[in-house]
Amino acid sequence: MKIAVLPGDGIGPEVTREAVRVLEALGLADLELTYADVGGAAYHRTGHPLPVETLEIARSSDAILFGAVGDPTCDNLERHLRPEQAILGLRKELGLFANLRPAKVFKGLEDASALRPEVAGAIDLLIVRELNGDVYFGEKGIRTLPDGRRQGWDMMSYAEDEVRRIAHVGFKAAQGRRGKLCSVDKANVLETSQLWRDVVCEVAADYPDIELSHMYVDNAAMQLVRSPGQFDVIVTGNLFGDILSDQASMCVGSIGLLASASLSEGTLGLYEPIHGSAPDIAGQGVANPMATVLSAAMLLRHSLGLEAQAARVEAAVAKTLADGVRGADLGGSHGTAQIGDAIVERL
Ligand code: NAD
Ligand code: IPM
Ligand code: MN
Repeated sequence: MKIAVLPGDGIGPEVTREAVRVLEALGLADLELTYADVGGAAYHRTGHPLPVETLEIARSSDAILFGAVGDPTCDNLERHLRPEQAILGLRKELGLFANLRPAKVFKGLEDASALRPEVAGAIDLLIVRELNGDVYFGEKGIRTLPDGRRQGWDMMSYAEDEVRRIAHVGFKAAQGRRGKLCSVDKANVLETSQLWRDVVCEVAADYPDIELSHMYVDNAAMQLVRSPGQFDVIVTGNLFGDILSDQASMCVGSIGLLASASLSEGTLGLYEPIHGSAPDIAGQGVANPMATVLSAAMLLRHSLGLEAQAARVEAAVAKTLADGVRGADLGGSHGTAQIGDAIVERL
């Protein structure tokens, strides 16, 4: 079982360290970890945020555990040299098109949500975010118009096969849950979304057992706060999924709690918290590592087929929270390593 560990920047290495400790505490016999630089850390060392050797280590692994990338000192570099290109490059190069971002309120943590406890308590949803297309990967630029004004532009597009394959992921996920799929788009304004909706409707014919609905993204943002319990699986494009998942994290309680799996057509997967490198708290030892620990659990489940071990890790995190161990993000005072200790202890 070869795992590529890419800690990255800011709090990335801090939270990744705790997730690795948890994996090691499981005592799996043939776990082989290979570390590689990525993001700003890689740029400063090699001149590129995703060095060829990092990409090759990732490609030849069974799974990738990823921290976060993003470094304010790199924000004015040419775009292709910025840290964020590393995660975008990994997703694209490795065909990781299906991003699963589960959001569920932990028992006893209802009071930590930004929502009223009785509203928060009902949250148990999964955002299925398309990860290889949309406005993220279209042509883009800043040009000067004939009258001298600068204009920024980004091409948004989805081809029907791209929509079809993520729709199938959404429907199948719903089959394994409560049987409800909500497709989120902006078909009232965007042609990209109109095609998205048409294709999702076509794919629905294969899944008569699933209750399909459609929602515009602005309404979805509102409904996520009004009554998030109505959602089972949400399937949406790259940009809308990015935004809605950060929002869902605060409905649950903190962005430090939400894990993700980025899956390909094969068995290779990349596992990362949904948050970034959090430069504002990096180096202080206060970041919540739970999102990354829960990402490691998803790695065990989806790439290594170790369901029992994944469930053990998730139960240890739930117990840690139930016992009142909370980071600053949840109004507590436990540091990153203390939270890691507490999870390992409960394993
Ligand atoms: P962010 O997610 O890094 O931080 C947003 C806020 O949440 C900050 O106040 C931060 O302190 C807090 N936060 C995030 N994770 C936390 C944790 N585990 N525990 C406690 N608090 C936490 O988003 P941002 O500030 O918009 O972006 C910072 C950098 O990260 C940027 O360079 C951005 O491009 C990058 N980024 C990378 C990824 C990724 O690697 N997948 C994801 C998002 C953002
Ligand atoms: C995420 C991040 C990334 C995204 C950035 C860092 C490119 O926000 O993983 O949610 O937009 O996908
Ligand atoms: Mn994001």
